[in-house]
Amino acid sequence: MEDSRAPGKSISLETDRLILRARRVSDAAVLRELWTERDPRVPPRRQIDSDGRPTIEDIEDQIRSSSRELNLLTVERRVFGDVIGYCGLIDTVRGSDGEPELAFEFLRRTWSQGYATEASWAVLHWAQSSGYRRLWATVRDWNGASRRVMAKLEFVETARVEADEIHGDLLFTTKEL
Ligand SMILES: CC(C)(COP(=O)(O)OP(=O)(O)OC[C@H]1O[C@@H](n2cnc3c(N)ncnc32)[C@H](O)[C@@H]1OP(=O)(O)O)[C@@H](O)C(=O)NCCC(=O)NCCS
Repeated sequence: MEDSRAPGKSISLETDRLILRARRVSDAAVLRELWTERDPRVPPRRQIDSDGRPTIEDIEDQIRSSSRELNLLTVERRVFGDVIGYCGLIDTVRGSDGEPELAFEFLRRTWSQGYATEASWAVLHWAQSSGYRRLWATVRDWNGASRRVMAKLEFVETARVEADEIHGDLLFTTKEL
């Protein structure tokens, strides 16, 4: 894996099958497709609303103005050159001492081929080389695939759980780097 310690737009990570790179405005259509594919149990703030928003244009605007998600990297397949999802670190109020949260989401047609795990390992190595000592990840109790990825990445569940009868309990997992 090649990596860069510099934050933001210069980050580019490579694995056997994937390239993880900074988000571009041209990624907006795939990112919106991810919105349309979300499980109905995902909270409304992360669902397309009754007006069809966010639109692709909304997401393009968010990418142009976003600083919070600079470390949320777009994932491309090397062989096909297509964008299949994102994986990276987000700042969160959940962790402490500036410890970020691992996040990922992939197009359904690419699931169960090991992409989330492969991309996440690249991000974990990058985080470690950047000086982070611990990461967090949150997952809904019903999200079996995501919980399996966390287990493969050797995240451990903590005692912290935010109960949510509607959207599913939110489990807090963590990994020492
Ligand atoms: C979670 C997600 C990123 C996994 O992506 P992926 O590329 O399919 O992940 P991987 O192929 O690396 O690993 C998936 C694992 O989950 C397993 N799996 C799939 N569906 C499952 C289910 N319903 N219950 C339990 N395990 C499941 C797969 O068999 C695989 O495990 P294995 O390698 O031991 O066979 C993908 O499902 C996704 O984008 N979901 C929607 C967004 C999301 O939930 N993001 C995480 C929020 S916390």
